[in-house]
Amino acid sequence: MKNFKGRVAVITGGAAGIGRAMAERFARAGMKIVLADVEAAALNRTAREMRRAGHEVLAVRTDVTKARSLGVLAKKTLAEYGAVHVLCNNAGVYPPDRFSPVWEAPLEDWRWALDVNLYGVVHGIRTFMPIMLKSGEPCHVVNTASLAGMLSGSGSPVYGATKHAVVRLSEAMYASLRELKSKVDVSVLCPGVVQTGIFESERNRPGKLRGIGAPAKYKDLGSIPMQNAMSPADVAEQVFNAIRARQFYVITTTGYDDALRDRMHWILKRQNPQFPDIRTMYKRNSKAV
Ligand SMILES: NC(=O)c1ccc[n+]([C@@H]2O[C@H](COP(=O)([O-])OP(=O)(O)OC[C@H]3O[C@@H](n4cnc5c(N)ncnc54)[C@H](O)[C@@H]3O)[C@@H](O)[C@H]2O)c1
Repeated sequence: MKNFKGRVAVITGGAAGIGRAMAERFARAGMKIVLADVEAAALNRTAREMRRAGHEVLAVRTDVTKARSLGVLAKKTLAEYGAVHVLCNNAGVYPPDRFSPVWEAPLEDWRWALDVNLYGVVHGIRTFMPIMLKSGEPCHVVNTASLAGMLSGSGSPVYGATKHAVVRLSEAMYASLRELKSKVDVSVLCPGVVQTGIFESERNRPGKLRGIGAPAKYKDLGSIPMQNAMSPADVAEQVFNAIRARQFYVITTTGYDDALRDRMHWILKRQNPQFPDIRTMYKRNSKAV
């Protein structure tokens, strides 16, 4: 996509963090914005602030875990703006699974994280791809995964598994779209640590999937400090440039390149992996944000 003025961008998880930053970047390029988020108060506040800044914004309360909700989002988008050119499947949650071994992760965490992080993207593409393909216009889908979707080890196993799935699904989209010589492009966004509310995801957990939290014995391992983290605006700038350049992998930092290389090396050598232990890993993450 080269022309943005007057085009339409739909952004899930658009009320805050990376989603909001993408909305603001696209709006500055003249796009009409559809913000979709489950958190009504934040959604309305962001929409109000963006309109005050002179942007054209539609806010639609959306729960990406429900296919029906995405259907309503598409209907309202088409009724208001008549088209969709950019879709960011960005809504995501981070269950408190950083330190527990994967077999101890509660089923509620698996369901919640898979529902939002994986099924959210599945519902997004199943709803919007037919609309974008039929339009015959240049369009672009951005699926938010994470560097956690390319790396591995004992930490954040539930979150990591959902994000690995998003990378795989996005690669399949890319391959199919090229085979079809389609005008629709796709990128997979893989940030390191970004200054957002992701570690307070519990605010959006549905009651029926109330978590029991990380077992106390793992809680002394510390947390990832946010002060060195990348700003959402920097991530959004990279996404915008990737759309223009038709770049598929949007890996926002080179800070994890050694870890990516190590993993590929072990795979290619058929060698058992030597993942860093969890303390080393989180120390590394604090430096390589
Ligand atoms: N912040 C980071 O360090 C980081 C790193 C890599 C990837 N990511 C990914 O970036 C994406 C955006 O997260 P963020 O960091 O901006 O965090 P955030 O918490 O600031 O934003 C996430 C947004 O998703 C919304 N959301 C949650 N559940 C939803 C649902 N069921 N339906 C619709 N919306 C829902 C939240 O209300 C929130 O506005 C996520 O997919 C996250 O996994 C974040």
